[in-house]
Amino acid sequence: MIRAAAALLALTFAAPLPASDAPYVPTPMSVVDAMLEIAEVGAKDFVIDLGSGDGRIPLRAATRFGARGFGVEIEPHLVRGANAAAKKQGVADRVRFEARDLFDTDVSGATVLTTYLFQSLNLRLRPYLLANLKPGTRVVTHEFHFGSWQPDRKTTIHAPDKPYGDPRSDVMLWIVPADFSGTWRMSLPGEPERELRLGQRFQMLSGSLAAQPLAEGRVNGLSLRFTTGAGASALTYTGRLEGDTISGEVLRHGAAAQPWRAQRVQRGRMDIDAGTETPFQSGSPMGGSR
Ligand SMILES: C[S@@+](CC[C@H](N)C(=O)[O-])C[C@H]1O[C@@H](n2cnc3c(N)ncnc32)[C@H](O)[C@@H]1O
Repeated sequence: MIRAAAALLALTFAAPLPASDAPYVPTPMSVVDAMLEIAEVGAKDFVIDLGSGDGRIPLRAATRFGARGFGVEIEPHLVRGANAAAKKQGVADRVRFEARDLFDTDVSGATVLTTYLFQSLNLRLRPYLLANLKPGTRVVTHEFHFGSWQPDRKTTIHAPDKPYGDPRSDVMLWIVPADFSGTWRMSLPGEPERELRLGQRFQMLSGSLAAQPLAEGRVNGLSLRFTTGAGASALTYTGRLEGDTISGEVLRHGAAAQPWRAQRVQRGRMDIDAGTETPFQSGSPMGGSR
């Protein structure tokens, strides 16, 4: 009795779900597979789909790759169907769906996050994802991108089961970058300390090492890579971040790799402002760039 009254109270005062920000259009299964493959989903992954529809992405991640999954969806009937499908497919212990606004979702546990949403929704989500996903988390979208945050990988696949338009779809992967920006003190064995200055826009690195400009700077999760110099005197640095320390190796042409370390002395801030956004990609029935 008391429990029933409590449930009724919870129902009465639960925040109502907002209106849907995008219509339900399921991703064809061939594209679901391509999304999970580009992210290299495996049994250790936790796949979150924002706007999960009938649940097909987390469900496939569980049944094909043994991953755990979670989906949030604004339409309660789709959530009921997705949870029923999880039971039917024998993965209800690993995959769960909730009727919830995707903008009110804790994504911090995801190792893979998927979306098939409008361009404008992705852009609204972008700062939230970059602030709340762990570095190294793979973000995969079907069709819609994240504006000036360029994908790390992109493929276009033949999708004969697509219910509209050209039978092909773009699948894109982003790897959430750690923030390396700031000033660092770099040391190599037997050499004087040097100043490393790093600026970062999403996964792109720029800066200088002892006033020499860096080239080809790039972040991949917690790892970075950049070069200095050119031709035979080019040096390639790779390294990995732990706290405020980078440890890595420097490769010189024709010489053995040497270890290097750097300690951050001043923190900067990765630039994730919108800047000039690349235009919306057409070709979807979901109605353009809302
Ligand atoms: C294009 S469908 C994609 C469904 C599924 N992810 C797939 O790829 O098959 C987008 C889904 O997002 C849901 N949605 C829209 N706005 C939402 C919001 N604010 N919070 C949660 N889900 C939302 C819609 O109801 C719809 O099911």
